[in-house]
Amino acid sequence: MNALGLIRRRFVSALLSWCDDRGDLFLDGSPGDGPAGEGPASDRKTAQSESAWALAELVLPSQDARFGDYQANCPMPLGKRLGMPPREVAQQLVAHLEIDDFCEPPTIAGPGFINMWLKDSWLIEQLQQAVDDGPRLGVLPVANPRKFVVDYSSPNVAKPMHVGHIRSTVIGDAICRVLKFLGHQVISDNHLGDWGTQFGMIIYGYKHFVDEESLQRDAVAELSRLYQLVHGLIAYQDARNQQWPTLQQKIVEQEQKISQAQVASDCGSAVEFGTAPPSGGVPAADDPKQGKNAAKRLRQAKNKLAEFRAQEEALRQITAAVEDDPQRSAQSAAHPDIRAAALAETAALHEGDATNVALWNRFLPSCRVEIEKTYERLGVAFDHTLGESFYHDQLAGVVASLTERGLVQESDGAKCVFLEGIQAPLIIQKQDGAYLYATTDLATIQYRMQRWSPDAILYVVDHRQALHFRQLFATARRWAYPDVELEHISFGTVLGEDGKPYKTRSGTAVGLSGLLDEAVRRAHAIVSANDDARPEPLLPADQRQKVAEQIGIGAIKYADLAHNRTSDYVFSYDKMLAMTGNTAAYLQYSYARVLSIFDRGKVDARALRTLAAPILINSPTERALAVALLQFCEALQRLVDDFRPNHLTSYLFQLASRYSEFFEQCPVLKADSEECRTSRLLLCDLTARTIRQGLNLLAIDVAERM
Ligand code: ARG
Repeated sequence: MNALGLIRRRFVSALLSWCDDRGDLFLDGSPGDGPAGEGPASDRKTAQSESAWALAELVLPSQDARFGDYQANCPMPLGKRLGMPPREVAQQLVAHLEIDDFCEPPTIAGPGFINMWLKDSWLIEQLQQAVDDGPRLGVLPVANPRKFVVDYSSPNVAKPMHVGHIRSTVIGDAICRVLKFLGHQVISDNHLGDWGTQFGMIIYGYKHFVDEESLQRDAVAELSRLYQLVHGLIAYQDARNQQWPTLQQKIVEQEQKISQAQVASDCGSAVEFGTAPPSGGVPAADDPKQGKNAAKRLRQAKNKLAEFRAQEEALRQITAAVEDDPQRSAQSAAHPDIRAAALAETAALHEGDATNVALWNRFLPSCRVEIEKTYERLGVAFDHTLGESFYHDQLAGVVASLTERGLVQESDGAKCVFLEGIQAPLIIQKQDGAYLYATTDLATIQYRMQRWSPDAILYVVDHRQALHFRQLFATARRWAYPDVELEHISFGTVLGEDGKPYKTRSGTAVGLSGLLDEAVRRAHAIVSANDDARPEPLLPADQRQKVAEQIGIGAIKYADLAHNRTSDYVFSYDKMLAMTGNTAAYLQYSYARVLSIFDRGKVDARALRTLAAPILINSPTERALAVALLQFCEALQRLVDDFRPNHLTSYLFQLASRYSEFFEQCPVLKADSEECRTSRLLLCDLTARTIRQGLNLLAIDVAERM
């Protein structure tokens, strides 16, 4: 049972009944200046109830057990709105609040906090239900299940998957699992990029550079080589022909700016320190403030130049990769505009050119096999993998339908949808007739609505596509789908320890499978060292390898999930594999540690659950653990409220910490009485099951021993 949800509902009732008692009370402020004051009585009621819900959201679990299990601070903002002392608001609220069926009488603290404690008897009753409740652990399915389509992972195939793909895959998977666990209907759809320019690149590569023998032997490796080759040549030519000259120009201009700023700044400091030269060529600034500004401008100009120099260095590396390699140089000379040539291959594919379509059909399966391997390793599976290619035939219809709705305008020959409040239009067809990413996404929405009519479609895609999704959603609403909830579940970048996007030493994005291998290798070393340190090692070699996989891959996933998804995060093997702190390894270890009690005491946990033995709460640490166990469902609800998996990782970390305090202070196998021992074993069992289920919802495995 979700205690927080229950308390919040009771708060809403209390607020509304207080309003009923006093016809002149408006929760959103004074009458007359808000929706509550005007309009028909029914509008007023809705507005009151919305305000009441918003205030009830301010009831939260307390951070400190001294201030209750839950605490409400809504009297503060409400008091301000009503012009009433918050303590008085708190008193009124408490007078209307009916929670005595499951809470102790609330207390009012400080300026007007309402502190609430669950009744031990109620808490125990809930846990007792959880004991019998298998994997659900007392978590009730939602009353109003919704249907979600979740679009995640969605890599562009034909390029190897890299570190950036892990976030969408792992976050999307966790969201799907938790939604399902809570009783929602979930359809996962991997919107593969299987139709984009990268195919033009490998088709061009195939036609000019293929090594047939390698292709026969290991198609994926050869395709990946072709992709890298063409990509490298494109990058080289772009750098040499466009970026380098532009940058050189900018550098020259910047150097001029600096020398001007230098002069201005010299004059400024001369004035400031009273050493202005007798009239030189340059007019002296006679205001010290101006002098400071000039110095600041000089600094900024120098920083800008440093930025340009760094870009120059990056370009130099790209050009060196080709120019220092005679074979590459010859290839570049022989294919002088390879970007345009590769684009032409993509266009031919899209127009149905028989050769290119045949090549695409030949290459795609190997690309998919390759990414499937990664998914298998990550334990991720999709209900559907309808790639972009699937929608190709529908694109003309999409443009026609939007045009019919009067939404399309031509701009520079391209077909565009202009949207209110968004400066850039959404382009749906280029001048040359080509369709775009956005056109496919519109066709995808149409298809998903027709096939599944979901209540919501979630897109787990990195933050750089924020504008695309704003445009897409606005267009879809005006086109035909005003009601479906469309949400971009955005996330930040994976950074290296230098604070820049995570790259290998040679500057390429790190391949996902190499990343997983390295984490497993390191986990293996840790597991082996721990086990070797035991008087009698527990794990045979194959077990070590299995545990290392669980820990290594779990570490990568967990590190990703534990960071607030909208922030960037720093990828660090050392941090993610630490045995203490908020890591998967710590939770996996906590889990194994709980199980070891059952081993040592020769207790059969299953049999224990059927005893119907009472749970006893005799000490503060027992109680704190019990409350944490009860709050599992709240963490899951929070996760689906804003689709942030870090709510669940924080919860699990807190649970494990409370367990650790309990374990230090409350002997389990050597408890004073048989009843107490049984009760504590039940708490241990619930802890282990909650950690396992929680990690399972994050697609992280546990090991019984490690
Ligand atoms: N393939 C795209 C990329 O790698 C992500 C696709 C996200 N999903 C979508 N429906 N647009 O950038």
